[in-house]
Amino acid sequence: MTDTYLRGSRIALCVCGGIAAYKVAGLARELTQAGAEVHVVMTPSACEFVGPLTFSTLTGNPVRTELFPESAPTEIAHTDLGRTSDLVIVAPATAKTIAKSAQGLSDDLMSALLLSARCPVLMAPAMHTEMWFNDATQANVATMVGRGVRMVGPAVGALAGPDVGVGRMASVEEIIAAAEEELALRSELTGIRVLITAGGTREAIDAMRFIGNASSGSMGYALAFEALRRGARVQLVSGPTHLVPPEQADTVRVTTAQQMRQAVIERVEDVDVLVMAAAVADWRPASSSEGKLSKGEGPPDLQLVKTADILAEVGSRRKAGGLPNLSVLVGFCAETRDLAAAAAAKLHGKALDVAVANEVGSAQSGPEVPTLNALVLDRDRGPKELGLVSKRALAVTVMDSVAARLAEAGPGAE
Ligand code: CTP
Repeated sequence: MTDTYLRGSRIALCVCGGIAAYKVAGLARELTQAGAEVHVVMTPSACEFVGPLTFSTLTGNPVRTELFPESAPTEIAHTDLGRTSDLVIVAPATAKTIAKSAQGLSDDLMSALLLSARCPVLMAPAMHTEMWFNDATQANVATMVGRGVRMVGPAVGALAGPDVGVGRMASVEEIIAAAEEELALRSELTGIRVLITAGGTREAIDAMRFIGNASSGSMGYALAFEALRRGARVQLVSGPTHLVPPEQADTVRVTTAQQMRQAVIERVEDVDVLVMAAAVADWRPASSSEGKLSKGEGPPDLQLVKTADILAEVGSRRKAGGLPNLSVLVGFCAETRDLAAAAAAKLHGKALDVAVANEVGSAQSGPEVPTLNALVLDRDRGPKELGLVSKRALAVTVMDSVAARLAEAGPGAE
């Protein structure tokens, strides 16, 4: 069944200038024989190693090499390929292409394609050992991995010339196996309805001022991206944030905890999964002034009242049999110490399937930086300590847990 996911898939195969380019001809042939539609993009230096005619003959499709071809283009190759491919494979991925991609450069067809790709990207690095271990390359690789790019290899072995060491391109078989896995993931949550909350809420003091929190929303947005990547139908209930929601998600913007509760309660009966990643305010002012309070009036006498706990409400409704469609309930908790104990308390206290605990104060940087100390606790599997991870990597682990629970529950199960 090795060709199940390759058959009918559309793959952009990006060939860079390295001696391993000749092996990529074999990869192009294997992918094509497995039933994939393969479109090859080559850098000018790749063409020094292997002629484009080799790839067009093997794939049956024209090879693209230029961002602005002289003949009137019938398509905008970089955006069309980026938009319509199911998978992009870069092989061999040279230090230069990885660096350009990490920097977001778009000065040739391949880098522009990588910048516009919406599908999973798989890179098979190949370079000399010193180049691979150079801090700049390692930082660029970490950036790409943080953005969700999958690296296959490099392996240890003979390199160009007499050198032997780390830097040899992964085998064609390994690249194909990784491609299969990426394509399989794409349909893992097909048909699954996922509701995700993100960001903090704001509770008004007056027309200008509010009680808020430091949540950026990027955890919830990373979860939405990851669920979409796996084929789920995603609704995102978002508190105020500067982040741009994924286009394919159905996004509802809210401001207050009360509005967030309403948005969740209106939707929760018709979803399979709820992930409460939002930092919902626990307290709100008992009353707020319609106009702006003047400081001349002195400090306001703030009376705080508790907001409704949305997650606890959903958890107890489901426990009482009220939400038959809801198969997986995930909650978050932000802690300063003992993540395992906090996650266990949250799991039982709010009747969750999965509790995610992260350390407060370690979550301030962007979604790709591995600075979050986190733990994921599945009620039937025990805790998974992740150590320092990026929000994107945490989103992958959370969605792995969701997918595993759904797979176990099976169609029609509780
Ligand atoms: N949550 C919610 N409604 C609230 C408050 C929180 O649904 N009014 C959800 C959050 O989205 C999150 C989880 O509940 O998934 C967090 O629970 P909470 O009890 O607020 O835990 P902590 O943030 O760890 O705070 P505490 O120290 O109060 O336990």
